Amino acid sequence: MSCRITILCENSVGPISGTLGEHGFSALVEWQGGALLWDTGQGFTLLHNAQRMNKNLHDLQLVALSHGHYDHSGGLLPLLRTCGPKQVFGHPAIFTPRYRHKDTGESLSLGMPYPKEYLEGQGASFDLSDQFREIAPHICLTGQVTRKTNFETGDNGLYLDTCGCSRDPFEDDQSLVITTARGLVVLLGCCHAGLINTLEHISEKTGRRDIFAVIGGTHLGFCSPQQLDQTVAVLRNWQISRLAVSHCTGFAAAARLKQEFPAAFQAAQVGYSLELF
Ligand SMILES: [Fe+2]
Ligand SMILES: [Fe+2]
Repeated sequence: MSCRITILCENSVGPISGTLGEHGFSALVEWQGGALLWDTGQGFTLLHNAQRMNKNLHDLQLVALSHGHYDHSGGLLPLLRTCGPKQVFGHPAIFTPRYRHKDTGESLSLGMPYPKEYLEGQGASFDLSDQFREIAPHICLTGQVTRKTNFETGDNGLYLDTCGCSRDPFEDDQSLVITTARGLVVLLGCCHAGLINTLEHISEKTGRRDIFAVIGGTHLGFCSPQQLDQTVAVLRNWQISRLAVSHCTGFAAAARLKQEFPAAFQAAQVGYSLELF
């Protein structure tokens, strides 16, 4: 299908005057007759940036959350309050409490900032599933991503408890897959499941390996150098045409990806747009 993808929230901004950055991610997918919001950022910049880019979120009906982290889900409340009721897709585990455990012993809560019942009272209608499924014409959620690689060990600082005892398995982490004439377009949230695990999972579910674009957070900035090295090595086999990374990819890993994939690399900052016809 034909569509336009626009980054509304991200850590940094592009050339559109007056837009704001925050640690978070949100992208708007628009097609003829419909639109879907992929993640919502923390909640500080979504509505402001949408207005600056003349994006009307009032008519939007569909929201999908990549996982329960606050920097992807916090914008849901201001969106509901300002723009009215929305159908919200996600994994059943998005409301699981979760934390970053720091070397100092401090724990920071990173989970959904509002309970499910409260958000329902504000107009959210949740549709939660761990399965690969179509949520709009030619747009699918991956569902829970099967872990296959042995090198995507993830972020060591993320836990389900405040003592740092139980690593967060990120069962809820998923990505969005859009079928276009140029191939599959994959929108990531944080990709805690691992980029290669995610691509392999998509390939298994769709029977396709023609990934035209990957857009969003890869979390490679929080993973080991070994994971980055092996991700780069395996990524070569995928021959992705647009590698538009951002958010938790971080500056160093993004610079490495630009060096390794100079023709494909793009910085998906606020205002970045990809049109597919
Ligand atoms: Fe994130
Ligand atoms: Fe995350």
